[in-house]
Amino acid sequence: MKKVHSGKVRDLYELPGGDLLLVATDRVSVYDVGLPTPVPEKGKLLTALSAWWFEELADVVPNHVISMSDVPAEFAGRAVRCKPLRMIPVECIARGYLTGLGLREYQRDGTVSGVALPPGLVEGSKLPEPIFTPTTKFSDTGHDEFITFDDVEMQVGRETAAQLRDLTLEIYSRGAERAARNGIIIADTKVEFGWDADGVLTLGDEVLTSDSSRFWRADEWKPGRTGGQRAYDKQYVRDWSLTTGWDKTEPGPTMPDDIVRSTRERYIDVYQRITGLTWPRDDEPSPWPSYNLHQLVDDVVALLKEKGIYSTLTATKTTERERASKQLLSALCITPTLTPEAALDLDGHERYNARMESN
Ligand SMILES: Nc1ncnc2c1ncn2[C@@H]1O[C@H](COP(=O)(O)OP(=O)(O)O)[C@@H](O)[C@H]1O
Ligand SMILES: [Mg+2]
Repeated sequence: MKKVHSGKVRDLYELPGGDLLLVATDRVSVYDVGLPTPVPEKGKLLTALSAWWFEELADVVPNHVISMSDVPAEFAGRAVRCKPLRMIPVECIARGYLTGLGLREYQRDGTVSGVALPPGLVEGSKLPEPIFTPTTKFSDTGHDEFITFDDVEMQVGRETAAQLRDLTLEIYSRGAERAARNGIIIADTKVEFGWDADGVLTLGDEVLTSDSSRFWRADEWKPGRTGGQRAYDKQYVRDWSLTTGWDKTEPGPTMPDDIVRSTRERYIDVYQRITGLTWPRDDEPSPWPSYNLHQLVDDVVALLKEKGIYSTLTATKTTERERASKQLLSALCITPTLTPEAALDLDGHERYNARMESN
């Protein structure tokens, strides 16, 4: 496996056969500078969120994903096997709300990327409609810079420029609408496209993640809020980094534990809110392995009682309890599978490994 690119946050490998492996590390980069402190599981969180969106948007645009599971074991969960694309060096940004660099550009000359906006907009204002505000991917300054739609046309041709704009706005609108259903505002987002081997314009990189988008909670959104909206994305780290007096040059500041923790919690929170899925936490081991079924019944009965619900289950005979336990597990969509240890279990109770069925 050959490493072909080591980005600020992700590493790119070429797999035997020609597929690419995009590996998301736990690194954080702000203002184009990598910070020395990783955020545990960040790479996995972003990979999972991106994968969820790629599927969600599959009818909008072809994407580079080949497989999320057919990846080397050492990178499981944080890697995507993907098609190698000839990347288009334009950062395709859609904005539905005004903040960050877009806001500063607007305050200076009333436009963003050449798009004229109405007067009177403030930090966090919702735009009349989402706008396409591309930036260069690389520039002499090393930072991304706004370019106009005309610039994009000159760079990639009229037809492709229009496709980039339309696809970017469609991805944003679909994403924003989907996230809004779960109380999340997507203020803006950045996507990258490339050409696949057959010349098909394809969505690459990552999509609608906490690194590539600004996420706010709808119930906390306050246009004009001093210091900006409360961020559930990388903005949280950007904001913290500036409180340290850092001048945005190498080396980046070391993140204290509480900032690492709350960044991670924010990434998990957004992942869960958007996808409706629960993030499995390593620091909270699953209670299922080796759960004693008899104990399980007792625990559930006790829980029901606590809630004022009385179970008629008073089985004392082992076989009855056994049957009740199995019914309970099947009602909970948990399949008990006998573990090897069960045979050696000394206290006489059968122990099971229970597996949650995803349904
Ligand atoms: N399918 C793909 N084929 C080729 N390059 C890709 C593909 N998907 C993403 N990339 C590139 O991989 C890199 C991802 O790493 P990242 O850490 O984001 O790097 P960067 O610092 O360049 O933004 C980006 O440069 C992105 O353009
Ligand atoms: Mg990148």
